[in-house]
Amino acid sequence: MASFRFRCTECNAEYGEDPARLVCSVCAGTQQRGGPVRGALEVVLDGLPDAWPDAVPDSHRFLTDFLPVSDATALPPLPVGNTPLLTVPALREHLGLPHLWVKDDTRNPSGSTKDRASLLVVAKAREYGLETVATASTGNAATALAAVGAAAGIRAVVFVPASAPQAKLVQLLSYGATVFRVDGTYDDAFDLCLDACSEFGWYNRNTGLNPFTVEGKKTAALEISAACVSEHIDVVLVPTGDGVILSGVAKGFADLTRAGLIVGPPRLIAVQPDSSAAIAHAIQDGADAVTPVLGAHSIADSLTVETPRNAIRCLRDIRTSGGSAVTVSDRQIVDAIPRLARSTGVFAEPAAAAVLAGLEVALGQGLVERGERIVLLVTGSGLKDVASAAKAIETPEPIPASLAAVAARLDRGA
Ligand SMILES: Cc1ncc(COP(=O)(O)O)c(C=O)c1O
Ligand SMILES: [Zn+2]
Repeated sequence: MASFRFRCTECNAEYGEDPARLVCSVCAGTQQRGGPVRGALEVVLDGLPDAWPDAVPDSHRFLTDFLPVSDATALPPLPVGNTPLLTVPALREHLGLPHLWVKDDTRNPSGSTKDRASLLVVAKAREYGLETVATASTGNAATALAAVGAAAGIRAVVFVPASAPQAKLVQLLSYGATVFRVDGTYDDAFDLCLDACSEFGWYNRNTGLNPFTVEGKKTAALEISAACVSEHIDVVLVPTGDGVILSGVAKGFADLTRAGLIVGPPRLIAVQPDSSAAIAHAIQDGADAVTPVLGAHSIADSLTVETPRNAIRCLRDIRTSGGSAVTVSDRQIVDAIPRLARSTGVFAEPAAAAVLAGLEVALGQGLVERGERIVLLVTGSGLKDVASAAKAIETPEPIPASLAAVAARLDRGA
């Protein structure tokens, strides 16, 4: 068990573990409804491992050594994480980037990186003897909570925008979650979940608010470094909405740096849709705070956020890493889905394919050098939003069941 404390990301006040505490008591006093989370707490682990474990894959040992849980048995019985870091030769060749990898997080049990956060939050809920965990979500965090909750025997209550893609809703309901489809935005769902948790006493997994969401997502960075022990990674591109995945990745590299297992963190580049880009705009403008994007909308529903709740920490983490942020259009996102699939074998939802479009923008802007070691974090499966993927492909007309028809189609260059 790694013992730990909480430290406020704004004023550095420290707190011991307390299931009822999610934010700093001092800074939370400045919280505005609908605004970025104030006084978010960071997990500070005492006694980080000082060597890489011998075997990383297919055991939770690696994770538990770096996580604030008592032992491997506290983790719900689902194989979250340990996803492959693919060498993607065709994409390397196509882009002229000899040191490019794809971290394929579509392979998580519910199909997204969000499983990493939910695994840890549900493990802590079990440890605390809590029976219900609630979250607001654009879809994937809710699905992840529902999946991990189902495996652990914990009730999941979720608040999603009524417009969430059908596949995510079907997944949620199949896992048995209590689902509230909110007539409003993700931001509305976030606030409603806050109110419901205080009213009904549920443990709140809201991303960026619950400190274990960042802590759980850091495992993506641990695995990237473990897979490249002898190679320094220069840049990681992260699709960004609330900015919690990015802060999780930053936390993983920060812990590894503190432990002396890597020389320092890579630059982190946030990728946002140009119509939902509060964090990217703040980075590009050198601003200290985000300006909400009212009416934010994008085909990348998972990145559609008016006010990124983890904005304060995410801006800090991008800047500390020496990184930056880029924006991409919906057209670039849709086009990236089949291009990623055809050159890597990874079928991604719009939010996740956005990192490929973002890489090309970053190359064009000179934010990434061709010889650098670059990782694209591909965060969610294309099966979650087939309708969006269909916008970039042409469905062939049916043919008669004859060889002649096959030959005729081939002649036409099919
Ligand atoms: C597939 C996928 N990618 C990226 C993100 C963005 O993560 P964050 O909101 O932590 O920035 C999400 C969030 O829902 C997601 O589901
Ligand atoms: Zn504080």
